[in-house]
Formats: sequence, C-alpha cells, structure tokens
Amino acid sequence: MSRRDSLCDAGVRAAFSRAASRYAGAAALQRRVCDGLLERLPSGQRITRALDLGCGTGFASAGLQARCAPSGLIAADFSIGMLAAHQAGAGVPRVCADAHRLPFADGCFDLVFSSLMLQWCALDVALPECRRVLAPGGTLAFSTVLTGTLGEIDQAFHGLDAHRHVIAFPSAGDLETALTGAGLRIERMDLTTETEHFADARALLQSNRDIGASRVPAGGRRAVLGRAALQTVLARLEALRTPDGLPLSYRLAWVVATSAE
Ligand SMILES: C[S@@+](CC[C@H](N)C(=O)[O-])C[C@H]1O[C@@H](n2cnc3c(N)ncnc32)[C@H](O)[C@@H]1O
Repeated sequence: MSRRDSLCDAGVRAAFSRAASRYAGAAALQRRVCDGLLERLPSGQRITRALDLGCGTGFASAGLQARCAPSGLIAADFSIGMLAAHQAGAGVPRVCADAHRLPFADGCFDLVFSSLMLQWCALDVALPECRRVLAPGGTLAFSTVLTGTLGEIDQAFHGLDAHRHVIAFPSAGDLETALTGAGLRIERMDLTTETEHFADARALLQSNRDIGASRVPAGGRRAVLGRAALQTVLARLEALRTPDGLPLSYRLAWVVATSAE
C-alpha cells in the first residue's frame, strides 16, 4: 500500500462522517485554530475564488465569505457526513473531494484555506495539488499539527500492544521540505503549542473520538482493547493530572505560503 493510500483510508473518512453530528460541539480547539488561521490571512489580497479544503462543518465559512467576492467560496471535504452537517447550508457550494486528487482545474483559486486537515494527508501529494489549483501568486493558508501532538495518548498506550494509537505527524522540517518541494514559498510559519484539559481520562479519549480523529490508518488497532490494558491507559492519563485537569497537547503549525508567479 502506498503512503497516500494508507493515509486516505476509507476508515478515516467513515470516522469523520460518524463524528460529524458531534463535531461542532466537541471541537472547541479546532474552532480557535480556524479563527487564528483566518486572522493570519494577508490583508488586502483581492480574492475572487477561495477553496476551504477539509471544510468539516464549516467553521471557516463566514470568515472566508467576508473576505471573498460574492459566491466565490467553495467548500470541499472527503466526508459526506461533514458536508451534510456543514453550517453554511445551501449558501456555499459543497464538493465531496479528496485533497490528494482535487476535481478542480489548474489555477482556479486565489486562496486555498485549510484548517487542521493536512495532517491526514500525504504532504508530498496534497501540497502539490494545492499548488496546482492555485492561480500564480495565489495563497495557501493552512494550520496543521506536528510531531508531539496527542503525545499524552501516545505515551498512555506505549508498550501495551504492537499498534499505533496516534497518527505519525510530521516535524516542522518535514513540512518546510514538503512546501518547498511543492513549489510553494513560505511567507509565514508560526509554531505554537495548545493544551486542552479534561475532567477525566475517559472524557479525554472520548473527545478525540467525537472530533473523528481516533482512527489511525496505518498500523492502528481495530480490535477493542482488553479491560486490563484500558485500566493501564486510564491510570497513565490520570497520572498527568494538573490543577486544570488532564492535559492533551497540540503542537500547531500555521503557514501562509504563495505559489510562484
Ligand atoms: C479536524 S477536521 C477540521 C475541519 C475544519 N477545517 C475545521 O476547522 O473545523 C479535518 C477535516 O478534514 C477532512 N479530511 C481529512 N482528510 C481529507 C482528505 N484527504 N481530503 C479531504 N478532506 C479530508 C475530514 O473529513 C474533516 O472534515
């Protein structure tokens, strides 16, 4: 199986569709990240056509519509469930599309916006696709997560079985290499860490399921974890308790890049 096939996994798509009805209620961090990415968009750029790639339930819709020519926004996601739950309803055309193979002509967008989708993609395939659909001088603005993200979950499962419990996230260096390789020029890259806190370990694990992010395509566990192993996971997470609750970390990259003129 190629890296692209292993990442663009039917199970990942199904997990996002199953989570779609709970996503907006569970995705407080994702909403903040989306807002932060909108704030990082270059001001003064004339945007006729914009693509919200991996749009989910449409957190970015209103912000992008405010910056874009009327009817200029298209939302795309590979999950039918997410598209059906999209809050902008009929106001924004919604396209079911995989970021690795976009059904759009070369050079047709001034802006490709993508918040927290690219970690699910093979960067060496999805970034060139973003560049292909951008007009010369167009902007790609995205947020993604880097290695160390969900480290608490990774550590809690460590050694209990031979499976991965968190997807393999890229490093900042991997991201820069992939951007350059795709012919994109980095105008801005901010790296930040955000920590969410949960009342208990079950709530922490459930929240990861509610945003559709618990499915690990390559090497992930498919069978239910045994009772003893689950108790170990819960105890390890509980041992990390702080006065704010049980932490879950996200190492974020916020990128604004341009395609060559
Ligand atoms: C964490 S959600 C983010 C959704 C939205 N951008 C937001 O800020 O709330 C990730 C989204 O990316 C979509 N996605 C993941 N891989 C994708 C792919 N290969 N092509 C298109 N969409 C994808 C998922 O279906 C999901 O809606």
